[in-house]
Amino acid sequence: MKPNHSSALGVLVLAAGKGERMQSETPKVLHPLAGRPIIYHVLRAVSSLKLSSLAIVVGHEAPAVRLKVQEFVQDSHWIKTPAFFTQKEQLGTGHAVFSGASFLKKHSAVLIVCGDTPLLTYDSLSSVVRFHQTENNAVTLLTARLSNPQNYGRILRSSSGEVLRIVEESEAGDGEKAITEVNSGVYCFSTGLLLKALKEVKPKGPHREYYLTDAVDWVRSHGGKVAALLSPNAEEILGINSRLHLSIAERILNRRTLERFMLVGVTVVDPAATYADSSVEIGAETVLYPGVILKGATRIGKNARIGPYTFIDDSQVGNSAEVRFSCLTSCRVGDAALVGPFAHLRNGAVIGPQARVGNFSEVKKSTLGKGAKVSHLSYIGDAQIGDNVNIGAGVITCNFDGVNKHPTVIEADAFIGSNVNLVAPVRIGKGALVGAGSTITEDVPEEKLALARALQVIKDKKTAGGSKKVAERLRR
Ligand code: UD1
Ligand code: MG
Repeated sequence: MKPNHSSALGVLVLAAGKGERMQSETPKVLHPLAGRPIIYHVLRAVSSLKLSSLAIVVGHEAPAVRLKVQEFVQDSHWIKTPAFFTQKEQLGTGHAVFSGASFLKKHSAVLIVCGDTPLLTYDSLSSVVRFHQTENNAVTLLTARLSNPQNYGRILRSSSGEVLRIVEESEAGDGEKAITEVNSGVYCFSTGLLLKALKEVKPKGPHREYYLTDAVDWVRSHGGKVAALLSPNAEEILGINSRLHLSIAERILNRRTLERFMLVGVTVVDPAATYADSSVEIGAETVLYPGVILKGATRIGKNARIGPYTFIDDSQVGNSAEVRFSCLTSCRVGDAALVGPFAHLRNGAVIGPQARVGNFSEVKKSTLGKGAKVSHLSYIGDAQIGDNVNIGAGVITCNFDGVNKHPTVIEADAFIGSNVNLVAPVRIGKGALVGAGSTITEDVPEEKLALARALQVIKDKKTAGGSKKVAERLRR
């Protein structure tokens, strides 16, 4: 059970910035990362602290950001109502925090987290809070040592090691730029001193911004105790400022997810060529072959074989199922079913246990019963297919009349010959047989044979009109 930190502590997440360096219309904190908006990951880390008071500073595209925060809060059953503060103009992180002044006044201390640092973990955040409380600090910073500290604020310490202030990259001299200890953007502040400091911070830099980092210097020079906690895991403080950072974070989160799978008994043959959103769940003894991409709310059972080269989004795959070289979205695959190579299962496809779909077949909004087979070159749409039905090569359910979609029902044990068109709405009765090449427009009763194709004729090549010319041309 994780400890419940003091309710005197509030959490403030800064998410008002546009994120210019992303070169995007989408606000930075909403860019997808491991299948979720960046801010989801930040909120997940923060929510693990079980603090009961959360505020978010929004600004750029505020309604969209607010919506995503609310979605997270609802999904996680965390707290009922986060407080939102709007920073109308993005005048810097200090200005953003000051926008939440009324929230700060309600708490004796505040944990501030930037909305663009999605790799933070419970361990680091809780260590910062604990350190802040046990040491009675006025400011506690989470810092990290990076071999490439570019773009981060650098931590300036005195010769005896005390934290003096934070210098932003834009104002750092060469000596300061060489400092490798950086500011993570995670801080605990005593709110009384913070509010006083923010009133004194002056705008600076090319955009005349109010830097939150300058509040640290103010607090220290007014007698407040400033301390820093060095993160043992530097990668988790990564701040996403550009698409390059986004790709680095994606790789790290992917690695964490694959490690989680491996710890519960999943074999990942080549982690460098396997991708999974952090929301995916997989059972033990399942093997992921190279080229697998798993997204969204995908759930895979035990002992399954997935890949190589398979994309699965928002789908469920049963125990002992096999899916090879295929594309699955919003569908369900039963236990011990065989999918692929080269199958496309789309929204609402439900493949029964021990059923098969493969070799360039597409299934949409259709149910296949236990042991049913759609093995080659078919399109199955809006259909209900019973147990043990065999669908021959090249069968098409003609479900669309240009205006409406119509259903096809094929009852258990029916056999549909190759290259059959089933013009919906149509029903094929239990155990019926449809001859190859038929175009079926009327229902077929149980256990009957239906043939709907031109009868074959045999003619003499020499006397059968045009066929003689054709034969001659072929001979040349
Ligand atoms: C900031 C820190 C830097 C630190 C780094 C860690 C400052 C001045 N610098 O730099 O020391 O090393 O984070 O990642 O604080 N935001 C607002 N309103 C604004 C500006 C920003 O809400 O007016 C939000 C952004 O949405 C973002 C966060 O604050 O989530 C940080 O802003 P960003 O511009 O990314 O700051 P950095 O340059 O990364
Ligand atoms: Mg940043």
